[in-house]
Amino acid sequence: MPFNHNDHYHPLLLDLLPPGPGIALDVGCGTGRFARRLAATGMAVEAVDLSAAMVEAASGLGSPGPGEIVYRQADVTTDPLPEAHYDFISCLASLHHMPFETVAKLRRALVPGGVLVVLTPARPSSPKDWAREAAAVPLNALARLVVHVAERLNGGSDGGPPVPTLFRFPTIAELRRESARLLPGSTVRPLLFWRTLITYREHGDGDPTDG
Ligand SMILES: C[S@@+](CC[C@H](N)C(=O)[O-])C[C@H]1O[C@@H](n2cnc3c(N)ncnc32)[C@H](O)[C@@H]1O
Repeated sequence: MPFNHNDHYHPLLLDLLPPGPGIALDVGCGTGRFARRLAATGMAVEAVDLSAAMVEAASGLGSPGPGEIVYRQADVTTDPLPEAHYDFISCLASLHHMPFETVAKLRRALVPGGVLVVLTPARPSSPKDWAREAAAVPLNALARLVVHVAERLNGGSDGGPPVPTLFRFPTIAELRRESARLLPGSTVRPLLFWRTLITYREHGDGDPTDG
């Protein structure tokens, strides 16, 4: 993909980092592009992916530092994540491969004040959503052309291991409903290039699904 819609939003996600270096978890890290950006901010990064091929490819690319990256092959839905441990948890284009309820587990893994960001594809639910999608088409074509030309001039790019088939794209309305239930106080923001951003800051009031 000449213009990567997930990578395009890296700067926006990095703006949401809590203050201080801290510990980050990148869920479904793929070849580690965002994990390396987190490490570059000084965070200690745990980067987890279900695919052994992804973990191997990412590990081979190391860390730019100053933060260390530990890559690990695991299914985050069954992995025993530590509770109240991470300052920042990111899921970039990975949550739709898992049940949405996985966010409750990720929430428990945050320290108070910690931030969870989910960047996910979602289907439109309203006329405004459809209008945004239509507006993105010409801009996307232009961005793809620019990136394609830049990559040709730089000798091309290696796409990395194949990405597994998707689980299911939720609608934006479903994301709003489920985020309100499982991540109270979160914001759900549809973005231009077919991604929706969910941002949640842990306030330490307990799990809404308990009791
Ligand atoms: C579309 S790729 C996104 C990769 C990367 N986050 C990026 O932005 O390029 C989705 C990744 O999620 C991983 N994944 C899917 N289900 C997972 C699970 N249950 N636990 C951990 N990783 C998972 C896949 O192996 C794949 O590498």
